[in-house]
Amino acid sequence: MINFIWAEDDEQHIGYKGKLPWHLPNDMKFFKKMTINKVVVMGRNTFESFPGLLPNRVNVVVSSKSDLVETDNLKIVHSIPELNSLLETFSDDIFVIGGATLFEEMYSNVDRLYQTKIHAIFDGDVTMVPINYDDWQLVEKIDGQTDEKNKYQHEFRIYNRK
Ligand SMILES: NC(=O)c1ccc[n+]([C@@H]2O[C@H](COP(=O)([O-])OP(=O)(O)OC[C@H]3O[C@@H](n4cnc5c(N)ncnc54)[C@H](OP(=O)(O)O)[C@@H]3O)[C@@H](O)[C@H]2O)c1
Repeated sequence: MINFIWAEDDEQHIGYKGKLPWHLPNDMKFFKKMTINKVVVMGRNTFESFPGLLPNRVNVVVSSKSDLVETDNLKIVHSIPELNSLLETFSDDIFVIGGATLFEEMYSNVDRLYQTKIHAIFDGDVTMVPINYDDWQLVEKIDGQTDEKNKYQHEFRIYNRK
């Protein structure tokens, strides 16, 4: 099964200056819990926004360039057809983790959405691909706890494709 997982604000912003626009540890915990020991697929920009490989996950990075070197937990593909062929070799759940370019390219293949909705508006220069929620059924909604470290009201929503 192919899943998307992302966080967006009330204006669907997902990124700013190559990073996340917000600091929300609860969302990072949720992301880790959902993706641990799974295959995570990302575009080059998202890969470069992290300090390194996401541990305990197979990291698949899409890039047109040839400077990235594969390791046990890092697979590089150079096109969407090449990505789809590689994904067929995994039996476990696959999580496309962004960014907007990858979400757009993989939208027709995705079965389930894990959306963190953050009820605030941030400066953003990357926006989530438009999603027609008429095509999706909300199957779970969990309110996130706000506290000193998690200042923004947020919720975790899971949708299945109808
Ligand atoms: N809020 C969230 O949940 C979330 C999640 C993920 C990312 N983000 C944010 O989103 C921003 C990055 O998103 P983005 O849309 O700019 O970039 P992206 O999707 O992460 O990466 C785009 C890059 O991936 C490679 N690529 C994509 N499709 C390809 C294809 N078909 N063939 C070959 N290469 C391909 C290209 O890299 P090359 O130039 O190497 O060819 C392209 O420049 C950052 O700010 C990040 O923090 C937010």
